[in-house]
Amino acid sequence: MKRKLAAGNWKMNGTNASLGELQSLTTAHPDPRVDILICPPATLIVQAAALTADSPLMIGGQDCHSAPSGAHTGDISAPMLADAGATAVLLGHSERRENHNETSDLVAEKALAAWSAGLTAVICLGETLAQREAAQTLDVIATQLDTSLPDGATGTNTVIAYEPVWAIGTGLTPSTAQIAEVHDFLRARLADRLGAAQANAIRLLYGGSVKPANADEIFATSNVDGALVGGASLKSADFSPIISALE
Ligand code: G3P
Repeated sequence: MKRKLAAGNWKMNGTNASLGELQSLTTAHPDPRVDILICPPATLIVQAAALTADSPLMIGGQDCHSAPSGAHTGDISAPMLADAGATAVLLGHSERRENHNETSDLVAEKALAAWSAGLTAVICLGETLAQREAAQTLDVIATQLDTSLPDGATGTNTVIAYEPVWAIGTGLTPSTAQIAEVHDFLRARLADRLGAAQANAIRLLYGGSVKPANADEIFATSNVDGALVGGASLKSADFSPIISALE
């Protein structure tokens, strides 16, 4: 039975003082019926992993380089994330696609590096408002999925996160019908490529202004296996209700 996933992306937020939120989450959810993943800034991964080592809470990175090591000043490799205690890594987040000119081809290279290091790749994709308004959403999603996802994806090494760019940090969300359209499309496209069993094993997360108030209706939507949450994952008091809604 595929376990649903509640993932938190802290983005460029958090210091040592923030680690108390992880302790609060493990206290609130000592034996969760869903998987819980927190992706803090890289500076906190070692402490976060040590703090949660005896709990079900998983720790992930927010990006990795496509090379295992080398002359890449400022970058962090997938083996380094694994060495620090991470078990997953976000890849291709729209903020990195935009701010760091990350292409889907590069995301695929990073996914292969993540898999080689034993990390689960959480591959992010989503359309801009202009693309949605131009009725290009499914074309954009298809191209991003096909190009970002290397051959060899399984329900263990891969999670897909659909995050409409215009819903990230805005308080706006697509209708549940719009979310269902994209998630159903993703599932079908994965099935065409991997077969139904493998496609059904890959968890499809929705991300973009998920809050305790809208979590129930989002999680009741077709082919939604969880959420990738930004702002509402920073505080246990906000993220815990979202986890409970998924259970
Ligand atoms: O990766 C998750 C993030 O992009 C969503 O952010 O603040 O809209 O939940 P937020």
